[in-house]
Amino acid sequence: MPWLAVGAAIGAAVAVATGAIAAATATLEAWQRRADGAALYEGRQPLVARVSGHEQPLPALAARCANCHEGAQAIAPALTERTLAHAQPRRGGPPSRYDARALCRLLREGLDPALVLVPRAMPRYEIDERACSALWAHLQSR
Ligand code: HEC
Repeated sequence: MPWLAVGAAIGAAVAVATGAIAAATATLEAWQRRADGAALYEGRQPLVARVSGHEQPLPALAARCANCHEGAQAIAPALTERTLAHAQPRRGGPPSRYDARALCRLLREGLDPALVLVPRAMPRYEIDERACSALWAHLQSR
């Protein structure tokens, strides 16, 4: 009988440990995604981008998001959870908010969530789902 109790206790302990490992792995993955997104945003991890209508890709340095969206010289709005994930009018369109998919469409096609085209100064990016969701995770954490 006691052996059964010991077995049950071990089973429970293993279940708790497995749960803790799964939770830690998920946290680590989320942290890694944000870190990948920060590297893309700051240009430490280069992205292929073009000025709309141009064949020639931009030099990697010119494609860094931070160039245009950050600092005193910024020519474009700050990209944060507050500016992106909350409904607000953008470029004369109706109020709209971004999610990961909307961000990917904007980066690839230049269309915002209300389907208003952004100015050509915003490059078009060749970006896959993984990189896009990493960027979104990073921008959400700012
Ligand atoms: C060469 C300059 C430049 C670079 C580099 C650039 N952007 Fe932009 N971005 C712009 C401009 C200009 C706009 C349009 C601003 C406006 O409509 O007033 C814009 C608009 C946006 C918007 C729309 C914001 C809104 O409120 O609708 C998002 C999102 C965005 N950029 C994300 C990015 C990300 C992510 C990167 C990097 C992968 C990036 N941009 C790189 C210039 C740039």
